[in-house]
Amino acid sequence: MSLNASLGGLKIKDPEEIERLIKENNELKSQIAGGGASSSYQIPYDDLEVQDQIGGGGFSLVYRGFWKGTPVAIKKWFDPNHSDAMVQEFREEVMTLADLRHPNVLQFLGACMKPPHLAMVTEHMPFSLHHVLYQAGVDLDRKKLVGLAQDIARAFIYLHSRKPAIVHRDIKPGNFLVDRAWKVKVCDFGLASNSKAQAGAGTPQYMAPELWENKHYNEKVDVYAFGVMLNEMIAKEPPFSGVPLLEVRQGVLDGKRPDIPLSCPKVLSDIIKKCWDASSDARPSFVQILDMLKTAAASV
Ligand SMILES: Nc1ncnc2c1ncn2[C@@H]1O[C@H](COP(=O)(O)OP(=O)(O)OP(=O)(O)O)[C@@H](O)[C@H]1O
Ligand SMILES: [Mg+2]
Repeated sequence: MSLNASLGGLKIKDPEEIERLIKENNELKSQIAGGGASSSYQIPYDDLEVQDQIGGGGFSLVYRGFWKGTPVAIKKWFDPNHSDAMVQEFREEVMTLADLRHPNVLQFLGACMKPPHLAMVTEHMPFSLHHVLYQAGVDLDRKKLVGLAQDIARAFIYLHSRKPAIVHRDIKPGNFLVDRAWKVKVCDFGLASNSKAQAGAGTPQYMAPELWENKHYNEKVDVYAFGVMLNEMIAKEPPFSGVPLLEVRQGVLDGKRPDIPLSCPKVLSDIIKKCWDASSDARPSFVQILDMLKTAAASV
């Protein structure tokens, strides 16, 4: 929220008071950008060796590189104007990930917080789940698939049990990274937040009905998206492939969901259907999903 907007609500008339608040706000901003709370994980940009690009879009690009000789991934934010909105997005993503510690959440290593070099440094992972499903030609058999799904459920038990809960809001194969031992880690906390209450963002094909309708939502939007992605992992086909977005929206609101392959074992299709229930209250928690996946693991 901009300072002006926040002042609007307060109806402060005294120009001196406004001046003082603006100064205070700017000081706070520069503290966060240049040091203060973040000093323990700041990395000087010169310590990084940026190499080839491996992903990204929008305001950021992801590169492979080295941090003092250690292979890492470097996510760089760029906007020629360094607009406040971009700097704020960068800061929120860094502050969210820096606070998380879980074997199935991408390991944050540090960040360059001083404009113009805004970059987040994390461990480097060899594949994304998107690569595994569509590019690498790897054989993702059912046992491995259920193993990956269990790891993902563990990550989300952790995220949703934070106080307040962290809602990721962008579950899709490109936002999960996989290593050579088939361990999976969630990444891209660009939309995750425990403060934003507005709906409407995310990747359309994975968006729950309440998001399409701009209604109040909670962590169950992640459960919905997980159901869509679990089905995608089995079908090896993107959800609503080739369907225009307006039709996706109307279809989802009318209760339509991606096709579940006929070959999908019932234990898994039951989980998928519960996860993408139109009613968010009826969707299971990730604790329940993990239990169901453990049962499924024994029979697939
Ligand atoms: N730590 C990492 N190790 C290896 N590859 C990574 C890493 N982080 C990101 N990537 C690659 O970069 C892609 C984009 O990363 P991320 O989702 O964090 O950025 P983004 O700006 O949100 O991009 P997008 O708009 O494509 O989602 C990932 O799908 C993955 O292929
Ligand atoms: Mg992403």
